[in-house]
Amino acid sequence: MGKTIQEIEENALGDLAKASGLAEVEALSTRYLGRKGELTTFLRNISKMDIDERPAAGKNANLLKVKLDGAFKAAMDRLSDADGDGAFIDVTLPGRPVTRGTLHPVTQVTQEISDVFLRLGFDIVEGPEVETEYYNFEALNIPKYHPARDMQDTFYVSDSILLRTHTSPNQPRVMERVEPPVRMIAPGKVYRCDSDLTHTPMFHQVEGLMVDKNISFGDLKGTLTTFIHEIFDADTSLRFRPSFFPFTEPSAEVDIRCVMCKGKGCRICSKTGWLEVLGAGMVHPAVFENVGYDTDVYTGFAFGMGIERIAMLKYGIDDLRKFFENDMRFLGQF
Ligand code: PHE
Repeated sequence: MGKTIQEIEENALGDLAKASGLAEVEALSTRYLGRKGELTTFLRNISKMDIDERPAAGKNANLLKVKLDGAFKAAMDRLSDADGDGAFIDVTLPGRPVTRGTLHPVTQVTQEISDVFLRLGFDIVEGPEVETEYYNFEALNIPKYHPARDMQDTFYVSDSILLRTHTSPNQPRVMERVEPPVRMIAPGKVYRCDSDLTHTPMFHQVEGLMVDKNISFGDLKGTLTTFIHEIFDADTSLRFRPSFFPFTEPSAEVDIRCVMCKGKGCRICSKTGWLEVLGAGMVHPAVFENVGYDTDVYTGFAFGMGIERIAMLKYGIDDLRKFFENDMRFLGQF
């Protein structure tokens, strides 16, 4: 004799209450309602019952079938969260990958540059990006109407307030505060009203300044050579070309042997074998006078460089705009 309808119902609901996963509920559904399931078999066997028992048995079995079907479906919905209300957390699903950020290449190169100069005994200082005309120009021996102001297209905030066009205003700012010896670098953002393939309105520079008794152009060459050899290959040649800056005299532009072709001539160095990376020179006496340093006692050198430029050469990046697009696929490579 098979189980009664009541027994099937009790067993099925009891099993369902204990089921803990989607697979278990699915197995129960098959076990009770499948082609060879207990309730299906019961229904099939009704024809073998006494004729007067058949109507009630058939009715009750069909009612139970509807009831169990609903109960199993509801349980499966709940466990698979088919309605997407997030009420169910399936702990067996693989986790979502957490994408980790990396330091921006400009930040990384800034840190590398800073590390080299820290080892050489330089301090790191910061100055304001919104700067006065005095520190950005006047104190650096660039008076009003001086043609050198045209060298850098300036964003003005008001008549005498501007976005600094270079990190050089940190020179007079530091020298006003402290007496020599001075050994500092000042990394930071600078702004120029300029935007094309090779210029962005904001970019980064590092300023360097060393002032003491008996500082010579030789100290400048030695410091920059050490720096370049730390940042690029230790056998990278440097070349100092005469140049002009109002705040240094004499002034130089510093080239390094092309890091791509090693001087053979390529697209990066425009077939010259050299890459310009720095502006530098001996601090102009007029700048010392502006900050009250005795020009008979002290001499010094200063230099400035673009950080994106160093990063591009170091990592072989050919498009300046990549630094500012915040494309994770690009940034994640460094
Ligand atoms: N401030 C100059 C520039 O932005 C670079 C420089 C700094 C040159 C210090 C000489 C000395 O081009």
